[in-house]
Amino acid sequence: MRVGPTGTLMRSMSFYVTTPIYYVNAAPHLGHAYSTIAADVLARHMRQRGEDVFFLTGTDEHGEPVALAAEREGVTPQELVDRNAPHFIDLMPRLNVSNDFFIRTSDAEHQACAQEVLSRIRENGHVYEGVYEGWYCPRCADFKTDAEAGEDNTCPIHRTALVREKEPNYFFRLSAFQEDLVRLFDEQPDFVMPRHRYNEARSFIESGLQDVSLSRSTFTWGVPVPWDPEHVFYVWFEALLNYYTALSYATPGEDLTERFWPAQFHIIGKDILKFHTVFWPAMLLAAGLPLPKHIFVHGFLLIGKDKMGKSAGNAIDPFQIMDEYGTDALRFYLMREVSFGHDGAVSEEGFKARYEAELANGLGNLASRTIAMVHRYRDGTVPGCPLDEELAAEIDGAAGEVRELLDVADLTAAGDAIWLRVRRLNRYVEEQAPWTLAKDSDRAEELDRVLASLAEGLRVVAVLLHPWLPESADTLLAALGAPDLALDGARMVPGNLGAISTLQPLFPKQR
Ligand code: ME8
Ligand code: MG
Repeated sequence: MRVGPTGTLMRSMSFYVTTPIYYVNAAPHLGHAYSTIAADVLARHMRQRGEDVFFLTGTDEHGEPVALAAEREGVTPQELVDRNAPHFIDLMPRLNVSNDFFIRTSDAEHQACAQEVLSRIRENGHVYEGVYEGWYCPRCADFKTDAEAGEDNTCPIHRTALVREKEPNYFFRLSAFQEDLVRLFDEQPDFVMPRHRYNEARSFIESGLQDVSLSRSTFTWGVPVPWDPEHVFYVWFEALLNYYTALSYATPGEDLTERFWPAQFHIIGKDILKFHTVFWPAMLLAAGLPLPKHIFVHGFLLIGKDKMGKSAGNAIDPFQIMDEYGTDALRFYLMREVSFGHDGAVSEEGFKARYEAELANGLGNLASRTIAMVHRYRDGTVPGCPLDEELAAEIDGAAGEVRELLDVADLTAAGDAIWLRVRRLNRYVEEQAPWTLAKDSDRAEELDRVLASLAEGLRVVAVLLHPWLPESADTLLAALGAPDLALDGARMVPGNLGAISTLQPLFPKQR
């Protein structure tokens, strides 16, 4: 419980956000960083609102893509995943993401819980035995319909040959959920976001659903089917369940399911839309479990016009960029450059241009000159005087806008709303020219007001920017002597600040 703005008691909302779990058959790249940072911005923002947050990320370690990679490298699948998972585990603190748990689908607890749910789906009558015959892409770990396969029988994503597969399978009766899914989409128009992805998912459902394989029998690297040990679960069905199983064992001795299920947001890329917006809700319905509130489908990071990806060979290493420019610079670039929900090109030139314009010259310059002027003109103490009301009104609008925009995961517009204020504050410096006021002792009160307004405005934008730039925002707030991150405090209030320290450049100009 906490006290709301009107003095009423408010229950904090539970906010569960997830990323996809990433395949460990290759090293992490910028695309994986993108989804993870986006989820982190939401998680951090919701914590600033006092919500009860759980943020999950992790690795997807079963299935043919992993088994094939292991075979190519001449090691067992277990050896391969144990070698590669640490790259993803290490990525998270380097990205400064605040995940509450990192799930690996090779965890024994995950496997047991997934078996339990899948058995329940069978007991509920949604599983039958049959023979599958069709086109299969081992790299997608996905069967392709004849329409998807095209005339030359290649994978539309990987452009490699599809394999004709025929094997005994257990099937999930997906076709039986068509009507339920259409009703879900009718009743929850924001189940899939943004709108163009909702439409895509909906037309996939309306085009007619076929039953799908739930198990594989030609192949052993997976979670055993408890009622038939000749089979392992088809990796997607087991992997999707990570979102549910994690809550049962993330905190030793405590089951978090009641507290956090269902998720508020599953954040995914558009490559895995079908699995999350069609298979996943159908599976949950089949298991009798509550459905997630929203699935947010973002676009692709592109290199030129191509999707960045491990198979395309154009993947950019996030560690390398962070070594050179720092974590915040990478977070900021990805969140600002690629509009959330759409595709967007990334490049080194684009990165440098944005770093220079928005971080070094924008926020960095605002912070360093504001703090330097308080030291130069007022001995490092922010004057405790009334603030510029007009400026305050403009800055104070931000918190509410950001709140509303992040309720619908519009990370791009929320970033814009904050950046408008950073620009406004820089303009304010130019308009008020404190260096001129400082020359005239009759204008000391004016100078007090300008300096106090700037320092307080800087504090407010730093609080708002914390989810995007956690390290820089925290450094800035520490220098201002006001480390409180609560979103309710993101309004300009006179007398908030006192003695402030000095600040090293947040974003040094690049050589
Ligand atoms: O699909 N642009 O794992 P995966 C933006 N294990 N995001 C990108 C991206 C790009 N170019 N490339 C990858 C899998 N991503 C499954 C998921 S979930 C139960 C199982 C991000 O390693 C994006 O989030 O291929 C995409 O959906 C995900 O990585 C795919 O990661
Ligand atoms: Mg992939």
